[in-house]
Amino acid sequence: NESLVPETKEINGILLTKTIYNDWDKIWNFQAKPDDLLIATYAKSGTTWTQEIVDMIQNDGNVKKCQRANTFDRQPFIEWIMPPPFISGFDLAINMPSPRTLKTHLPVQLVPPSFWKQNSKIIYMARNAKDCLVSYYHFSRMNKFVPEPGTFEEYIDTFLNGRVLWGSWFDHVKGWWEAKDKHQILYLFYEDMKENPKREIQKILKFIEKDISEEILNKIIHHTSFDIMKDNPMANYTSMPISIMDHSISPFMRKGMTGDWKNHFTVAQNEKFDEYYKKKMAGTTLTFRTEI
Ligand code: PPS
Repeated sequence: NESLVPETKEINGILLTKTIYNDWDKIWNFQAKPDDLLIATYAKSGTTWTQEIVDMIQNDGNVKKCQRANTFDRQPFIEWIMPPPFISGFDLAINMPSPRTLKTHLPVQLVPPSFWKQNSKIIYMARNAKDCLVSYYHFSRMNKFVPEPGTFEEYIDTFLNGRVLWGSWFDHVKGWWEAKDKHQILYLFYEDMKENPKREIQKILKFIEKDISEEILNKIIHHTSFDIMKDNPMANYTSMPISIMDHSISPFMRKGMTGDWKNHFTVAQNEKFDEYYKKKMAGTTLTFRTEI
C-alpha cells in the first residue's frame, strides 16, 4: 500500500515521519510523571527485549499477565503517531494509568523535557552499530512505515550519514552516554545482555528497586530468550497488519544474535565502515563489543 509509505521531515536535523513532525508540539509537551519508566533505544537495539524483561519483572514473572496485550499496547511508544484507523502510541501513553512503562527512540536532545523535570527513570539499551544497521536494513524492507532502504550498499551510506528515522546511530548512542551521569539513566548493551542476561537483569532490578527470587529470575531469563520471544505472539509483532509489517519479507524477530553483520558486509564495505566509525567515535569513552 503505497499511501502508507511515510514522507519524512526533520526536527533539528533528525529525520522523523511526517506524522510525528506534524504533531511535534504535542510530543514535545508530553507530560511525564515521576513514576514513569522510559525504555529508550536507537531503533533495532533490543527495545522489545528490554520491554519484555521489564514487564516480566514488574509482573513477578507471571507469563500470563505479560500476555495480556501486545508489547506496543503494554508499553506505549510515546512519539509514534499513526494515521487513522491505527492507534497512536502517544494516545495510548496519555490514557494509560500509572505507573507507566513507556518506549521511545528519540535522541536525548529531543526527549520531552518533562522527563528531566520529573526525574523519571530511564533504561537505555545500545547495540553495536553494524548489527544495528543490518537489523534496521531488514526492518526497513518489511515495515511499510519506514522509508525503503534501497540496496544494502546504499543503505550503509544512508545509515552512516544518519539519514534514517531518528537520526544518526553515532549521535544517539553518544548523546545518551553523555546524559547518563546527569540523570537517572541505566545504560545497557545488547551484547552484555546476550552474554549474561542474569547479570544484566540484576542491574535492572537494582535500578528499579525491585527484589525477586532466583526462581523468578530464571523464569524471566527463559521467557525473554530469543527462541521463546520469537514464538510469543504478544511480543513478536506478528499481530501487526500486513499493511504495516510483512513478516514474509523479513520477520521482526529475525536472528537475535550478535555478529550477524559478518554475513552481510563485504571486506571493502567493512573497511569503509570502520574508517568512518573511528572518526565519529573519536574522543568518547563509549565502546562496543561485537564478539559475543
Ligand atoms: S524496534 O522496532 O526498534 O523496537 O526493534 P528492537 O526491538 O529494538 O530490535 C529488534 C531486534 O532485536 C532482536 N531481539 C532479540 N534479540 C535477542 N534476544 C531477544 N529476546 C530478542 N528480542 C528481539 C530482534 O530479533 C531484532 O534483531 P535482528 O538482528 O534483526 O534479529
